[in-house]
Amino acid sequence: MTSVAIVTGASSGIGAATARRLAAEGFHVLAAARRADRLGALVAEIEAAGGRATAVECDVTSDESVAALAEAAAAAPGPVTVLVNNAGGARGLDPVESGSVGDWQWMYDVNVLGTLRVTQAVLPALEASGAGTIVIVSSTAGFTVYEGGGGYTAAKHAQTAIAGTLRLELSGRPIRVIEIDPGMVKTEEFSLVRFDGDAERAEAVYAGVPEPLVAEDVADCIAWCATRPHHVNVDRLVVRPLAQAAQHKVHRVGQ
Ligand SMILES: NC(=O)c1ccc[n+]([C@@H]2O[C@H](COP(=O)([O-])OP(=O)(O)OC[C@H]3O[C@@H](n4cnc5c(N)ncnc54)[C@H](OP(=O)(O)O)[C@@H]3O)[C@@H](O)[C@H]2O)c1
Repeated sequence: MTSVAIVTGASSGIGAATARRLAAEGFHVLAAARRADRLGALVAEIEAAGGRATAVECDVTSDESVAALAEAAAAAPGPVTVLVNNAGGARGLDPVESGSVGDWQWMYDVNVLGTLRVTQAVLPALEASGAGTIVIVSSTAGFTVYEGGGGYTAAKHAQTAIAGTLRLELSGRPIRVIEIDPGMVKTEEFSLVRFDGDAERAEAVYAGVPEPLVAEDVADCIAWCATRPHHVNVDRLVVRPLAQAAQHKVHRVGQ
């Protein structure tokens, strides 16, 4: 029977690439995000390539919406074996001193509480499958801080804490917990969201970087971890572009 994989934040970037990749690996993918039009296009693309997917409109900050996602999972044509908690992002690059409480609230709601909500809702189905996998897409910001990144790094540290705690709490049960920590990934919307649609500021993040990671690179890491034999638990996978030796040390050509 086809296994089912749920991917949150599947309407863009890493989530969309992960949905495509897991479908290519043979999963029936439940692609979840708020923008139904983008999900519809993604599902059509996956099906045209011979894969299987279902679009599920879902806001991870809403209890009702996440309950509906769990219902869609229960109705899916196979055991739910994989959950990729990917929905998230950053807002702002302001110092703690003057950071917007609203931006911090959004980052907590989506990255941290969204992961909590979806994980709680889907855990019974993952356990019932007898071989569940929870992937949490945190970040190198989950273990490093940088100036202006207080809100985002705090949220990603919290997601990293959830991954570690959950692994301990689920010990002895058939669910592994994998944390993926990407460094700089050039996705279409991440920096645009961070800088409230300011395309010039968003593009400057990647200026001169020879080859930042792209969404497919991270999807490749997620798919590799999720398709190891079930007794193999990759606790944490840190992945950066070659040009990024550390958060503060990025090689930029001509700068
Ligand atoms: N890009 C990077 O450099 C980088 C590095 C490390 C980690 N990450 C992490 O990787 C993940 C994906 O990032 P990305 O670069 O692919 O960003 P992205 O292109 O901006 O995608 C973010 C996704 O999250 C979804 N989302 C936002 N709010 C949501 C909500 N309330 N409910 C459901 N879905 C929601 C968006 O869909 P809708 O707007 O349609 O809901 C979108 O599909 C994030 O957790 C991010 O923090 C990114």
